[in-house]
Amino acid sequence: MSKILYITANPKSVENSVGHRVGRAFLESYRESHIGDEIRTINLYEDEFPIIDEDILNGWDKLRNEGSELRQVEKHKINALHNFTDRVASADKFVFVSPMWNWGIPPKLKAFIDSFVVVGKTFHYTENGPVGHLKGKKAIHIQVSGGVYSHEPFAKMDYSHPYLKHVLNIIGIQDVAVLYVEGHEFNRDEAKEIIHKGISDARKLATTF
Ligand SMILES: Cc1cc2nc3c(=O)[nH]c(=O)nc-3n(C[C@H](O)[C@H](O)[C@H](O)COP(=O)(O)O)c2cc1C
Repeated sequence: MSKILYITANPKSVENSVGHRVGRAFLESYRESHIGDEIRTINLYEDEFPIIDEDILNGWDKLRNEGSELRQVEKHKINALHNFTDRVASADKFVFVSPMWNWGIPPKLKAFIDSFVVVGKTFHYTENGPVGHLKGKKAIHIQVSGGVYSHEPFAKMDYSHPYLKHVLNIIGIQDVAVLYVEGHEFNRDEAKEIIHKGISDARKLATTF
């Protein structure tokens, strides 16, 4: 039995979001084909989660420099953040569903990454560079964009999927698949087919994930 964490980063309703619809198809298909797996979900625009702030940064500085006592609020926030990181990291498989916003990821997904990619928790530095702690785990990223970025000429403008893949690789997750659902706003005539194909590809990918 595996533990899967399904992460969405979009404030839109399911009806209005291509990503939510494709992601939901993935999840339904996963549920049908992986009976008994534990599925957790987090909607980064609805669910509260700890975000790095001044108290956390000051607390981390104090822990690094040893000696000065952490304030109660610093201890409390660091504990909450580290518990969150551990809970997220305990999943075996990760599904990220995000829209491309200005060639990058939505800000709440960036905040989530900062609370998940935490030195000393999910990776550590060595003389030879960072070493990830989540080896053997896998992820898939469903990325939705109005234009087409999976290949040139615009692939070099994609700071979304390559960035997410990079940080997941850093924390040890090497197996990172991607499903691009793209171009429906630039090729309006083909929008229906593009979305339909995205849903169908998601259903298929879920069965072997
Ligand atoms: C704030 C914002 C920025 C966007 N930036 C881009 C972009 O850089 N490139 C692109 O192709 N589409 C861009 N889009 C379009 C979305 O990627 C597109 O609408 C996609 O369908 C969003 O996924 P959703 O339907 O799940 O919300 C942007 C949309 C918004 C709201």
